[in-house]
Order: sequence, then C-alpha cells, then structure tokens
Amino acid sequence: MEIESANCKHRVSECTDIERLSVERPLKIEREIDGLENLVAELHGVFSKDHVNIQEVQKLMSGYKSNPKHWRKYAKFDRFRYTRNLVDAGNGAFNIMILCWGPGHASAIHDHADSHCFMKLLSGSLEEVRYDWPENVQPEVIKRIKKKQSRRCCSESNDINEKLKDLNITCDDTCPNSRQNNCQEKQDGEDCNYQNGGFNAQTMEEIGRTRLEIDDVCYINDALGLHRMENPSHVDGAVSLHLYCPPFNSCRVFDSRTGKPTNVQVTFWSMYGKKIKRVIEANPADGQE
Ligand code: SIN
Repeated sequence: MEIESANCKHRVSECTDIERLSVERPLKIEREIDGLENLVAELHGVFSKDHVNIQEVQKLMSGYKSNPKHWRKYAKFDRFRYTRNLVDAGNGAFNIMILCWGPGHASAIHDHADSHCFMKLLSGSLEEVRYDWPENVQPEVIKRIKKKQSRRCCSESNDINEKLKDLNITCDDTCPNSRQNNCQEKQDGEDCNYQNGGFNAQTMEEIGRTRLEIDDVCYINDALGLHRMENPSHVDGAVSLHLYCPPFNSCRVFDSRTGKPTNVQVTFWSMYGKKIKRVIEANPADGQE
C-alpha cells in the first residue's frame, strides 16, 4: 500500500503496511480552495466517505491559501501558553482546530493517541522537532514495524552470510541482527532491554527538525515518532491549523530527559470562536520545560 492509498479513517495501528506511511512525497496542489469555510466543507465531504487517503487531506489543506480574515475570529492567544481553539468538530471522524502560539511558546513532546495529525501553518513560523520513541514505551505499531524490519534484515544477512560462505569467509556480524540468537529474539517479538519490565530513564533522541513556512502542511502519526512544536520567534506569534482523525481527548507527553510518559487531557481554549469559561487548571501538554 502506498501513502496515497493509506486510509486515515482507520486508526494508525489498524493501517496495514504502516511503515509505508513514512514515505514523504512532494505534493502538487491540484486545486485552490478559497476560504477556510470552504476548506472545512470540502473536508466534511472527504470524511463522509469510508476511505480517506492521507494525501487527499494533505492536498486539500495545501490548496487553501491562508488569509487572516478567514480565521481571525478563532485566533485567541494567551500570554502564558499556546491555545487550542476548536473550529469544527467534524462528523466524529475528525476535528479541526486553530492553535495560537505566542513568542517562544512550545508544546511538550507528545504522541498522537493512535490518530493521524495534519498541520498547516497559517501565520508566523513554527519549528517541528521529531523524536524517536523511548525504547520501553514503544506502541505496538512501532514494535510491528521493527519486527518486520528485523525479519527483512535477518533474511538479507542470511543471504550475505551465504555469499561470504561461498567465499570461504565466516562472519556472523554482518548486521546487528545476523547473530542467530538476536534474530530469534526479535522474531519472537521480545526485546531483551525490557525484560525487567521497569522504566528505563533515557534521554530522548531527536530525529529531525523542520521549519514550517506559511501554508506548509505536515503530517505525523505514532508510527513516524513523537514531536513537539515551537514558535522560534521572540517577538511574533504564530497560528496553525490542525486536523486530527479520529479526534482525541488525551495523549501522552514525554519528559525529554528521561522519556517518562504522562497521560494528559487535551482541552480547548475556545470553541467556534467563543472563549470557554474554565476553572484554572494546569495544562501539562504545555512545553514549559
Ligand atoms: C502540537 O502538535 O504540538 C500541538 C498539539 C496539540 O494538539 O495540542
């Protein structure tokens, strides 16, 4: 299955051949969409179908050219942290929100609760920092991908070992999985690092950094890793449009020094342009590190 045909009406863990989702292709905008309302209407149309291609959503979101007069009413900032402002609750299959980032505001490193996350920059500048999953909290989908890769690596290393044998050379370290025991362990889905079952503090590994420019669209899911967003400007705010499918109310945030996960509720600062009255509460999803 290619990324174009991967169905984001399925949870990430239910997508088959999920590792192909990491293939990134340049997007060609096929059609311009005039106005945020029209984009939302188009997305409703797409998500009313059973099969929604990831690239179809990316293309639609890229086709909309940001204009503050379309989204200003949703863009509510807070001095202290980034805000989440619901634009549309979708049809249960997705939701759309506008996030407002004051100068220097950032999210904590987080997962996406098995959902698909699309993000488009509407104003300012944002940096996305991606991280590998800490080893002992990897979700099933990552284990599945690693198992497949390990099988592939085992069979490739067996081929290489056959060739080396023909040349009268013996080497069992052609790849990290070429040793019989190691291959066996990985194929059984076990990982010797986690046999204690305890939490293993480990600094989180950064695997990529991307600066988003206005109208750029990016996509992430748990199979691609974890991320955090940051407004690198000390002066200007930034505004981004997020689509999650399916919507989620909680996710996990990770301590960058130890990889320790914590479950957090995600809440809205405003809904449909109206600020929500709330009891003061800390939002641990904020990256006040
Ligand atoms: C982000 O991707 O950093 C934003 C997370 C959120 O939805 O609050």
